[in-house]
Amino acid sequence: MPLIRETIVTTADPAGVVHMAPLGLIADGKGWIVAPFHPSKTLDNLRHVPFAVVNYTDDVRVFAGCLTGRHQWPTVASDEIPVQRLAGALAHAELAVDYVTEDEKRPRFHCRVLRLVTHAPFLGFNRAQAAVIEAAILVSRLEMLPRDKIEKEIAYLQIAVGKTAGAPEQEAWQWLMESIAARYGGLTPTSGDHKGRPQGRPYSGA
Ligand SMILES: Cc1cc2nc3c(=O)[nH]c(=O)nc-3n(C[C@H](O)[C@H](O)[C@H](O)COP(=O)(O)O)c2cc1C
Repeated sequence: MPLIRETIVTTADPAGVVHMAPLGLIADGKGWIVAPFHPSKTLDNLRHVPFAVVNYTDDVRVFAGCLTGRHQWPTVASDEIPVQRLAGALAHAELAVDYVTEDEKRPRFHCRVLRLVTHAPFLGFNRAQAAVIEAAILVSRLEMLPRDKIEKEIAYLQIAVGKTAGAPEQEAWQWLMESIAARYGGLTPTSGDHKGRPQGRPYSGA
């Protein structure tokens, strides 16, 4: 299996309007493969403007936000490409598409790295951040996955959130739980107390 890094990818339309989406980039030698499903704005943009920014961020609200209609994260101009980057990222890489492997469902854009820049230090792993990323992936697949799988996995991920989250992780978690609750017409789950014990009624019981 290839290495995959979960990142925020920014792309631009022909008018230069930036679009932001969480994407798992596939390691490809010294470059990356961007593999957006069809149909998606990221795919359309890459067809028209064959550049992208990989934004490396530990602010998981951007991941949860993009999946729950909160796309307005500050961006600034990149150095070499006509695609804006996430202003708050720890680091970013500017990519140029070399070639495309076509596929009906999920074309693969093989990209080379033009530039890699660090903006702030990486301050270590956090379990709640990992849990939010996993939950965001579940939310992106709500229409495909069975409800009981979603509920079981959320119950497990909630333990790490309850034990280790800071304020940004709690906020991101809340957005995702609201999205799941809206999908199932249930109650919003809570992030649990400081020992990871769920508070209140679990949404799965709704
Ligand atoms: C961590 C994470 C990784 C993802 N990776 C991909 C990916 O590699 N390809 C993809 O099409 N969607 C991926 N998604 C889902 C997209 O972010 C989501 O469907 C998004 O809306 C893309 O569509 P858009 O370009 O129209 O915004 C991922 C979601 C998350 C939370």
